[in-house]
Amino acid sequence: MEKIFITDVSPRDGLQNQAAQVSTEAKLQLIRQLSEAGVASIEATSFVSPKAVPQMADAAELLRQLNRAFPELRTSVLVPNLKGLERAYAAGAKEIAVVLSATEKMNQRNINMSLEAAVTASEQTLRRAREHGLRTRAYVAVAFECPFEGPPALDRVVTLANKMLKAGADEIVIADTIGAASPADVKERMTALADVIPISKLAIHLHDTRGMAIANAWASLEVGVRRFDSSAGGIGGCPFAPGAAGNLATEDLVLMTERSGFSTGIDLDLLLAAVDFAENVLQRGLGGRASMWLRRQRETRRVTVLDMKGVKPQTM
Ligand code: COA
Ligand code: ZN
Repeated sequence: MEKIFITDVSPRDGLQNQAAQVSTEAKLQLIRQLSEAGVASIEATSFVSPKAVPQMADAAELLRQLNRAFPELRTSVLVPNLKGLERAYAAGAKEIAVVLSATEKMNQRNINMSLEAAVTASEQTLRRAREHGLRTRAYVAVAFECPFEGPPALDRVVTLANKMLKAGADEIVIADTIGAASPADVKERMTALADVIPISKLAIHLHDTRGMAIANAWASLEVGVRRFDSSAGGIGGCPFAPGAAGNLATEDLVLMTERSGFSTGIDLDLLLAAVDFAENVLQRGLGGRASMWLRRQRETRRVTVLDMKGVKPQTM
């Protein structure tokens, strides 16, 4: 079976937008459950200014504890600049992600840099990360539409992605930060990108604002993309990009790709357990579009198991 490579970004993209502070312990537990579900790559946190994103102020402590508890787990952390990289490296990061937006205004709002300065900062950060021996990812954010400037020109997106490749990024992650893309947009843009970036290094990061994330994931599959970002329970959104709703839910992506003959290595019941845990922590209902059906299936399996043991289920 052909493999799909999923990076679950819920501990970073999902939590960065939460107003109430989530404890380091709860973040670790979420990551533990994702790992137990078979998620092989997790974006754990971000080394950004605690003034910009207070939720990520515990990044160094989280990463240290994570590396102690799960030395084998592949975790990535987002870094916006050289200072973030050095903080992450000192805390034991093995993989980092830089974030370059495809428009002037989005770079200013997100990282307080012009587009030109953001390109230079991302290139320098990638080079330094490689000198440290780290694996690297580079986001090209708002690659389909910017909340301030509309859709960036496709040739600009391709040029920026290519610059990130040249600067040594191991993976280029094309992000629909506000969830505005259609499957036709995805097909057009990812096809153009795949002409320049080796398909094995090309990933897509989708949001579900307009209900098209799963269709966009399918359009990416048809282009040949096999690397996806998604978020358990669909939690996510950039605090600096107005209108960004939750991410493509990992459970939806797993269900769709496994039903279509791909393998993800992820156990859906254990993934749902991680979503249940996040619901408890955030005190609100979570879940992708298939989650009601998935949960009903899980209940049915539970009841069947109880029946087989001769135990009368309490609720049917
Ligand atoms: N981690 C922690 N602190 C950082 C930092 C980092 N990566 N980069 C800069 N700082 C600190 C500086 O040391 C300085 O601290 P001081 O006020 O105590 O002296 C302060 O932040 C301002 O530094 P400056 O370089 O002028 O940064 P800025 O104010 O222009 O902010 C960013 C730039 C990138 C640090 C900030 O915009 C940011 O963290 N953005 C994160 C965006 C994000 O997470 N978006 C969602 C994910 S895409
Ligand atoms: Zn996102």
